[in-house]
This record gives sequence, C-alpha cells and structure tokens, in this order.
Amino acid sequence: MQFQWPRGDKMWLGLLLILSFCSSLEGQENSFTINSIYMEILPSSTVHNGWNVTLQCIVDVSTTSHVKPQHLVLFYKDDVMFYNISSRENMESFFIPQARVYDSGKYRCTVIFNNKEKTTPEYEVSVKGVPSPRVMLDKKEVIEGGVVTVNCSVPEEKAPIFFKIEKFELSTKRVKQTREKNSKDQNFVTLEFPIEEQDLVLVFRCQARILSGFQLEMSEVVRSDLVTVRESFSTPKFHISPLGMITEGDDLHIKCTIQVTHLAQKFPEIIIQKDKVIVAHSRHGNEAVYSVMALGEHNGNYTCKVESSRISKVSSIVVNITELFSKPKLESSSTRLDQGEYLNLWCIVPGAPPANFTIQKGGLTMTQAQNFTKIASEWDSGTYTCTAAIGNVLKKSNAVHIAVCEMLSKPRIFHDTQSEVIKGQTIEISCQSINGTSPISYDLLKANEILQSRNKSSNNPAVFNDNPTKDIEYQCIADNCHSSAKKISEVLRVKVIAPVDEVQLSIMLGEEVESGKPVVLQCTVKEGSPPISYSFYRANAGKPFYQVTSNYTQEIWHKEEASKEEEGQYYCKASNRANLGRRVPQSNILTVRVFLASWKKGLIAVAVIGVIIATLILGARCYFLRKAKSKQMPVEMSRPVAPLLSSNNEKMSSDPSAEANSHYGYNEDVGNHAMKLINENKEPLNSDVEYTEVEVSSPEPHQALGTKGTETVYSEIRKADPDFMENRYSRMEVSPDGT
Ligand SMILES: *[C@@H]1O[C@H](CO)[C@@H](O)[C@H](O)[C@H]1NC(C)=O
Ligand SMILES: *[C@@H]1O[C@H](CO)[C@@H](O)[C@H](O)[C@H]1NC(C)=O
Ligand SMILES: *[C@@H]1O[C@H](CO)[C@@H](O)[C@H](O)[C@H]1NC(C)=O
Ligand SMILES: *[C@@H]1O[C@H](CO)[C@@H](O)[C@H](O)[C@H]1NC(C)=O
Ligand SMILES: *[C@@H]1O[C@H](CO)[C@@H](O)[C@H](O)[C@H]1NC(C)=O
Ligand SMILES: *[C@@H]1O[C@H](CO)[C@@H](O)[C@H](O)[C@H]1NC(C)=O
Ligand SMILES: *[C@@H]1O[C@H](CO)[C@@H](O)[C@H](O)[C@H]1NC(C)=O
Ligand SMILES: *[C@@H]1O[C@H](CO)[C@@H](O)[C@H](O)[C@H]1NC(C)=O
Ligand SMILES: *[C@@H]1O[C@H](CO)[C@@H](O)[C@H](O)[C@H]1NC(C)=O
Repeated sequence: MQFQWPRGDKMWLGLLLILSFCSSLEGQENSFTINSIYMEILPSSTVHNGWNVTLQCIVDVSTTSHVKPQHLVLFYKDDVMFYNISSRENMESFFIPQARVYDSGKYRCTVIFNNKEKTTPEYEVSVKGVPSPRVMLDKKEVIEGGVVTVNCSVPEEKAPIFFKIEKFELSTKRVKQTREKNSKDQNFVTLEFPIEEQDLVLVFRCQARILSGFQLEMSEVVRSDLVTVRESFSTPKFHISPLGMITEGDDLHIKCTIQVTHLAQKFPEIIIQKDKVIVAHSRHGNEAVYSVMALGEHNGNYTCKVESSRISKVSSIVVNITELFSKPKLESSSTRLDQGEYLNLWCIVPGAPPANFTIQKGGLTMTQAQNFTKIASEWDSGTYTCTAAIGNVLKKSNAVHIAVCEMLSKPRIFHDTQSEVIKGQTIEISCQSINGTSPISYDLLKANEILQSRNKSSNNPAVFNDNPTKDIEYQCIADNCHSSAKKISEVLRVKVIAPVDEVQLSIMLGEEVESGKPVVLQCTVKEGSPPISYSFYRANAGKPFYQVTSNYTQEIWHKEEASKEEEGQYYCKASNRANLGRRVPQSNILTVRVFLASWKKGLIAVAVIGVIIATLILGARCYFLRKAKSKQMPVEMSRPVAPLLSSNNEKMSSDPSAEANSHYGYNEDVGNHAMKLINENKEPLNSDVEYTEVEVSSPEPHQALGTKGTETVYSEIRKADPDFMENRYSRMEVSPDGT
C-alpha cells in the first residue's frame, strides 16, 4: 500500500507524522472493519444542464489503530471506473463542473482496505435540459431556386444529437418545410433548404434533442437570422389583343410576358396552355405569343406557366370570343332509307345569315349548296356534315349518319350433305341472301315452324344445324332494315333414310317341317328405309344361300318341299344404304327340323314286306310244284301260307321300321305324334300296320296315297292275301287307342 500525504495544512501534517510513527510501532496487529459506505450527490441527483455536481463517497471505518488506515476509493459511472484515489479520509469527492446530458448515468464508489472491499449501491444522476443550439446560415440574401445552408450545433454536448430545423416564412407565419436529422458523431448538422417561389423573408428554427437514459431531453427552439428572398423572374402576365370585345374572324394574339432579374443565369421557359394543350411556348426571351384567327372554339381558360429548374409560376386568363354566327345544323328527312328513296339533306344556320355552304360525306364534298337531294343507293350510306362559311369563318355542323338499305335478294337455302341424310346425322342448312344490306336476320323454318334464328352482319350464309329424323321440308326467312316484307326462300326437301334396325328371323308354319312340305323363313326388320337387302344364311356358312332386295320390311324365303337337307340353323341379315360403313344387323338364329312323313315310313315298310311275301310265295310255289310233280297233290296246300306269312310279317315288320328310323336319324322326341302313341301302347305292330289298316277300311284312298307307286304295292298286297288284311283290320278295331 502506497503511503500518501493527505491534503491538509501543516499542523495536520505534524500530527499525522506522529500517528503514523505510532502505528508503525504497533505493527500489523491492528484490526479494522468497514462499517458502511455510501454516496452523496450535491446539489441533488437531478440537476439542470450546466450546473456543478459533486459526487461524495463517504466511508465509515472502525479500527484499533490510533491512526486512520490508508485505503483506496474508486469511482464508477455505468460500471466504468473513471477516478481513483488513495486516502486516509472518510470522504472523497469527485467534482463535475457544468454537468451535461452525457454526464447522466449510474454512479457508485468502492473502497478497498488491504483485502477488504465494499461498494455502494448505484446512484442515478440525471441532467435535465439541453443547452440552446446555435443556428448559422451561409447567406442572408437568396434568389428563388437557390439554396440556404443551415448549421445547427450544440457545442457543449456530445453526439448523438437529434436536430429538427424548420423553414419558416415570416410574412405568412407558416412553416414551409421541416427537416430532421440524427447526428451520430458530431454535435452539429448542416442541412440545405431550397428556396421556392412565394418565399419572401425566411428564418430557420432549430431544436436539439438528446436521449438521456430513457428520457428525451429537448432544447429551446432557436431562430436564425433573417433571409431575404429575391425573385428570379416575375409572375407571368397576359396581354390580349384586340382589346375589348373579340369577334370570330378577328386576329387574336394571346401574349404572356415576364420580368427576369439580373441575377438569373438564363431565361426560364414560358408555356401557354389551353386546357391540357400547349398552344405556344418560348425558351429564349421574356414572352410567348399565341396568334390565331379568333373562333368560338378559342374561347376558354388560358394558362401561362413559367418554369426554371425548380421554380414554376402560373397565371391564367379567360378569353371570351363573340360568335359571328351560330354553328350550322345539318338535317335530313330520314336517316334510314330504302334504296331508291329520296335522300334529302339540308344545312341551316340559325338566323339565316348569308353564308356559303358545303355538304360533305366523309372527306368528300357532295355539293356546294345548302341542300342535297338524290335517289339513294346503298353507297350513299355514311356520315354527312355541312360547313357554313362567312368570310374567313368556317363552321362545321353536327354529323348525320345515313343508312341506305338495299332490299334483300330471295334467300337461297341449301345443305351440306351430297347424298341422302341418314337418320341421326346432323346436317348443316345454310341460308343466304346474296344481295341486301346487312345485318340480316334469318329464321329457319322446319315443317313451317321456326326452328332457329340467326343474325348475320354480312352477306355470308347463316348456318343452322339440325338433326332430322324423317323426310322434312325446310325454308328460310330473311329480313333486314329494308321496309319491304321479309323474304322467303324455296322449300328444301331433305330425304332422311333410316338404317335397318332390329332384324328378326321367324319360321312360318312351325319349326318342325314334315319332309315334302314347304319350309318358309321370314326375315323382318323393325325399321329401315327401302330398298333393303336381305340375306339368308345357314349357320356356319360364309355365304348367304339367298339374297333379295325389297321395298318391304319383311322378306320370305321358301322351299316347296322340305327334305332332310333343309334341316339346320338359319339366320338372316338386312341392310340398306344407310348401313354402309356400319355393322350390318343380324337376326336371331333359328333351327329348322325336317321329319319324314309317316306315309313314307309306311311305304318303306310295305315295300319290305312285299318283297318278303313275294319271296315266300315264290318259295311256296317251287315247293308245291316239286310236290305235285312227285305226288300229284291238289293245290289246297296253299292254305297254311297265311299263318306263316302272319308270323313272319309280325317279326319282320318291327325290324325294318327300327332300321328305317335309325337310318334317317329320327329322334323319338321330335317324331310323329301318332307313332309315339303306338309305341307307348307297346303295340307290337307300329305305324306301318296302322297305315295299312286305314287304307283297307277307307273305301277311298288317302290323298297322300294317290300316287301310282303306292297303289301298285297296295293292290299287290290285297291280291296276295285279302283274308290276312281283314284279319289285321278286325284286330285293330279292338285296340283301345282309337286310331
Ligand atoms: C461552478 O464551479 C466553478 C468552478 O469550477 C465556479 O467558478 C462556478 O461559480 C460554479 N458555479 C456555480 C453555480 O456554483
Ligand atoms: C488509478 O488511476 C490511475 C490513473 O489515474 C491508474 O493508473 C491506476 O491504475 C488506477 N488504479 C486502480 C487500482 O485502478
Ligand atoms: C457548424 O458550426 C459548428 C460550431 O457552431 C462548427 O464547429 C462546425 O464546423 C460548423 N459546421 C460546418 C459544416 O460549417
Ligand atoms: C383556369 O385554369 C386554371 C388552371 O387550370 C385554374 O386555376 C383557374 O381557376 C381557371 N380559371 C377559370 C376562370 O376557370
Ligand atoms: C362572354 O361574353 C358574353 C357577352 O359578351 C357573355 O354573355 C358570356 O357569358 C361570356 N362568357 C364567358 C365564359 O365569360
Ligand atoms: C332546302 O330545303 C329546305 C327544306 O327542304 C327548304 O325549305 C329550302 O327552301 C331549300 N333551300 C334551297 C336553297 O333549296
Ligand atoms: C361565298 O363565296 C364567294 C366565292 O368564294 C365569295 O365571293 C363570297 O363572299 C362568299 N360569301 C360569304 C358570305 O362568305
Ligand atoms: C345482286 O346484285 C347484283 C348487282 O346489283 C345483280 O347483278 C345480281 O343479280 C343480284 N343477285 C341477286 C341474287 O339478286
Ligand atoms: C322399290 O320402289 C322403287 C321406287 O318406289 C321402285 O322403283 C322399285 O322398282 C321398287 N323395287 C322393288 C324391288 O319393288
């Protein structure tokens, strides 16, 4: 620990020397403790800017020593040590002369004895107020468009400082502009203020603000010296000639002038505007002139603008020109005319002053007269105006739109499809009036009813779509602006063919056909336009066996006498030209069966029996002949033949029948009903016998037996053994089936 002489007078010095001597004698045995430490801020912790502030650190120490011990006192501001002193006093001070905002903060002090240390709490010191800033200008006189540089500073304070400077117009007592700037490293700012028109005498006002902790401290508002503003050029002035009343046709001069100060380096630009249109301008000189022959349209508000880089001065004037004559009016008898009617246009000026007229269409002069009359044609449609002139004054009238309407030509009607229309297909029907003024409205009539309507803005065809399902008639009606009646077209007949639909095959007279009887197949379509091509097919055959074209919805194939060959599966197809390119409709498949007629079966059986009988007879004859030769016996021996025949007949009759059935492929289920019955009765004799018996009982032969062949065979049997036949007959009568 460094020994220091405390500040004091010489008397104290002597005393201290003695005390220190004593303490050094007493050595290290002395004990001491810091009782308390605190700070005092004088005059107070809150002071006005510029006041003197004293920070006092007061320490209370107890010790066994007679001499006050030496200690170190440290002063901190915002945790940064800024002052230290070694002392034996119980109070040490730090003096802040003229405290500023930047002196605000949190202070504390610390005392250190050997290895003991104690610190005060933090004491807030706040400095209120900011010293008045200084405002300095770079000039005291300025011209419009120039710039004034303002320096505002607070030399006592430290950055950051926030400055606010206002440009203030003294004559109007209005703030014209405010600029603010935060100076981060300097305690001043320099800002430029542009000088505008209407600035006359200016002052600049400055205020400084500094942040102290969380509080913003503000200075007073300080005014600068006066600045006088000089005009660079005067406000523009209008000069109108002629003076007084201005009438149309007069030479009108609208002049705008300014005065320019000698300080300005160059002339500003002068612009004369009427509404938004610039009518005259000048860059070099102090005036601009707009010269024109006065007309009503020149009436209005004229503005003269004078502009330099930053300065713009404006003045305006209303120019009132007296009309020489009123605007002409173009009139017409009618604005919508039929071709061939009279087009009448006339131009009038109210008050009817002597004027020269022209009537124009577009840019073309139609006549130099006041009236215009002609027979209207379509090309006369257009926009007409007229011009009236008195001396040099020309006036244009309103525009009149004339529409001349040409009558429509008879509309033609046509459709796009070359060939016939297939049902379901959409067709385009077009209507067109080649001549006649458009727009044209078309109505399409379908069977005398309006189907659709179309408007065309040209003479191109109007196209309608339709979906006819049957033969139909179309017609169209066209109309336009022409006053004549609507025009109607010819009738367009559209032939619609229906494709063949729903083909059905049926067998007439039943699916079961007796051989020799007719087979009739009928192919029917539900719908389809003639002619229809019918094709009959056997199943599994690639080619039809019969084809026919017909105008009817059904067609028949037949065969007079069915044979086994006709048995099989059949179907048919039908199509017409509407089916071209489509799938040809096909019918259902039907099965035809041919069975053998019962008499034929019988015939076969009889033939077989006949052959057997003949063989037996021949055999018997040979036997008797041989016997007669040897024994000369009478011919009575022929008698036993009958039983032999009978037994043989019974035996044989069943076999050939079965043989025949198997041969022809007969099926019991589909066979003759009569035959079935017999079989159910377990009758040993079958249909052959039955047939034979019918022939015998009937005095007239059966119709189906009317052929020679059967007759012969039959008679042979009768001749051969009439008794036998009778016998058979009687036996059948007993039979319970009643056949
Ligand atoms: C502030 O202190 C200075 C000396 O540093 C002294 O001259 C001045 O008078 C003091 N001002 C006040 C208001 O005490
Ligand atoms: C006390 O202040 C002096 C300068 O004023 C400095 O050199 C010294 O280091 C300081 N002592 C302590 C303990 O901070
Ligand atoms: C503004 O004024 C201050 C003193 O008031 C001066 O220190 C500073 O240099 C000036 N700044 C300028 C740009 O003239
Ligand atoms: C003429 O126009 C100016 C600028 O548009 C406007 O300020 C002024 O009021 C107008 N004067 C009249 C008489 O309308
Ligand atoms: C122009 O002058 C005529 C008379 O001279 C007056 O009746 C009219 O109101 C004036 N028009 C304007 C726009 O001042
Ligand atoms: C022009 O036509 C109007 C109206 O049809 C008629 O009153 C007038 O007399 C005509 N003027 C001339 C010059 O033909
Ligand atoms: C009409 O035109 C003729 C020839 O151009 C001219 O002599 C006459 O003065 C004109 N009349 C009026 C009223 O302007
Ligand atoms: C259309 O008009 C022209 C010329 O005016 C004429 O030659 C033609 O015959 C007309 N056509 C019809 C369809 O009226
Ligand atoms: C079908 O009708 C048309 C016209 O009606 C006729 O010309 C044609 O001969 C007929 N065809 C048959 C096969 O009847």
